[in-house]
Order: sequence, then C-alpha cells, then structure tokens
Amino acid sequence: MNRDQIKAKDNEYIVHTYNRYDIVADRAEGCIVTDVNGKEYVDLCSGYGANSLGYANEAWLSAVTEQLNKLQHISNLYYTEPGVMLAEKLAKRSGLCKVWFANSGGEANEAAIKTARKYGNTLTDHKKNTIISLKKSFHGRTMATVTATGLAEAKEVFEPLMPGFVHAEVDNSEQLRELAEKYDPCAFLMELVQGEGGVHALDKGYVQTAAELCAEKDILFIDDEVQAGIGRTGTLFAYEQYGIEPDIVSFAKGIGAGLPIGGIICGPKTCDVLVPGDHGSTFGMNPVACAGACVVLDTLDDKFLESVKEKSEKIRSELLKMESVTGLDGLGLMIGIDLDGMNGADAVAKLLEEGVLAIPAGDRLRLLPPLTINDEEIKRALTSLKKVLNN
Ligand SMILES: Cc1ncc(COP(=O)(O)O)c(C=O)c1O
Repeated sequence: MNRDQIKAKDNEYIVHTYNRYDIVADRAEGCIVTDVNGKEYVDLCSGYGANSLGYANEAWLSAVTEQLNKLQHISNLYYTEPGVMLAEKLAKRSGLCKVWFANSGGEANEAAIKTARKYGNTLTDHKKNTIISLKKSFHGRTMATVTATGLAEAKEVFEPLMPGFVHAEVDNSEQLRELAEKYDPCAFLMELVQGEGGVHALDKGYVQTAAELCAEKDILFIDDEVQAGIGRTGTLFAYEQYGIEPDIVSFAKGIGAGLPIGGIICGPKTCDVLVPGDHGSTFGMNPVACAGACVVLDTLDDKFLESVKEKSEKIRSELLKMESVTGLDGLGLMIGIDLDGMNGADAVAKLLEEGVLAIPAGDRLRLLPPLTINDEEIKRALTSLKKVLNN
C-alpha cells in the first residue's frame, strides 16, 4: 500500500480516537524513524515514552525473539521463568515486595485502585475507600482511571463516573491535609512528575507532606510511574529523588521497550491484599514481554542512569539558550518546555517539518527521547530544535 492508501484505510476502518500527525511510519533504528517516503525523523517522543531503548535494540530483540521461539504465552494458570525473573528484579531494585503484571498503564492503575479499595474496605481499623488524586493528573482511559484523572477532559459524556474520587490542588500541602481530614481516604494517587498535565515535577516538600499524612492516617501512597518510571527521570523510579517509599508503584510504557506490559509493585502493606479471584489479566506476565523487560532493567544500571542525567543536562542547557524557551520543567529525559510566542502543539507541527518527533503536554512542548539517544542523535535534534525555537 502507498501512503495515501494507508491513510484512506485508516480513516475508513479505524475508530477515530486519535488525530494522527501526517506521517506514515515504516521502520526505525536507534532513535531515527523513517516514514514510507524515506523521510527520517529524530524521535524525541519514543512511542509516548514506551521505546525506552530506542528501536531495534540488539539485546532486547534477541531476548524477545528467543522467548517467542520457546513459548509465546501460556496464562497465569502456570509458572514461567521470565515473569518471576522480572518480578524479582523489580522488587529488589524498588525495595518493595511483590509485583502484579498487566498490559498497560491504565490497567496497572486499575489494579492499584482495586488494591487500595480492598485495603481500605477490609484491612484498616475502620472502613474507608475514597481516593484522592491531583488536578491536572492523568491515570488512564478505563472508567476508574478516567475518574481519577484530574485533567479537565470531556468526562461528562461517560457519566456516571465512578464514585469515591476527589481531586486535590497540585503542590498545595495545606489543602491536602484538609482533604485528608474531610474525606478520610484509603489512598493518595499521584504522578510525581505529571506527564499529560504539562510535565510538572511535583514539589519535593509537598510529596513529603503527602507521605507523612499517609504514615499518620494509614493512607496508601500510590505512585503512578507509568510515564516517569523506568529510568526516564535519571533514577529507576522518580520516587527515589523524593525521599519517600510508596505503598504501590504503577509502571508500564518504558519497561516494555515497545511491547505492552505494565503492572504494580506492592510494598509490605499491600503485597498480600489481592488473593486468588480478586483480580486477573489474560496476558499479564506474558513471557515474551517479560523477557524483553528483563533486558530493559539489566540495561538500566547505575552507569546507564548516570548517562540519562548527563544527556538531560546537556539537552536542557542547550534548550535554555534558545530564544523562545522561557522555562523548563520535569526531571531527567522527561522535559517540559515553556515557550514564548507559540504553544506546544505549534512547536510540534514545526518540528515535524524539520524532521523531529515531539509531543505537546498542555501548553508546553514535551520531549521524551529514548533513554539510549546518542550524541549524534542529540546533535541532530538540537539543530532542528534551534531552527524552530530560535524565532
Ligand atoms: C502517568 C500515566 N498513567 C497512566 C497512563 C495510561 O497508560 P496506558 O496508555 O498504557 O493505559 C499514562 C499514559 O500516558 C500516563 O502517562
């Protein structure tokens, strides 16, 4: 099929839940995506943060293909090695206890919500089940996660939403304390670096206050690291930079390096809350996705994470020299850019013409490059960014 035929069939046969950019992607290697016309793009979006190791990463490809040739799927009714290997790595590296596997970030957060609800309904000294999430947050597209999401999307058309969710102001410790008193929640649900809401790194003092409230009032801290986790911020998990230990961490995107996988890591209070019959997922703990994810975690050692920080500093210092850039937010290679004279969507459109893939986040321009982006690719991206952001 040629480019126009692919677009016409997409229009005819695919439910229109995405406005696509005018690119028909064909193949990719490293951080360079090539479209069907042969035009190349430096990818600073990495499949919405999912392609943590870029494209065609050799170690990941060989682990995935080897596992595909051995056993592609079997179900959670049976034991398999890749799942337990991955769970052990996640538990040990997070300092938490046990993992439950899903296929996506939304599904991971559903599991977190169900765990918190069961905990509050059955395991605290009195029954409680409200969940406090944040304004401008994004937690997924399922009914519970749409309700938890604080971004003002078109929620009315999906009413009735789920009961038991309250939205708190971002970085307002006093209000969080008041809401905790008023609603007696079973959990706080937060992205420590808000992604869709504009790439905003929450204030450290605020997050620590939230953690203190959790300890005081037996509230679970659910940390949504679907976008910020797995090395994106320069540490394996963003919470390491906030000096807190969450009760549940949800993860997805980057751990799959391009395959659908997500899940939650549970701490001592939550690791035995769910029991057989409470929850499940046909493809959860899929051996192929888990074999690839093990390579991701092995790649993200201390030296690699240090390189993520260095790349972040380099890109950020160059961005700050560009005329239209008025401020930067986010952590590591999760970069939110405030612009003068254009919004994120305008910048993304211009960057496409210059051969760079990026995405907006609110009014900001957002960069989520593969963590493996090399010097040459950074140089190429910065040349295009300068052309667009120096006017
Ligand atoms: C912080 C956060 N949570 C949850 C999700 C939902 O993940 P998924 O699209 O894999 O369901 C996203 C997706 O962008 C996200 O950024």
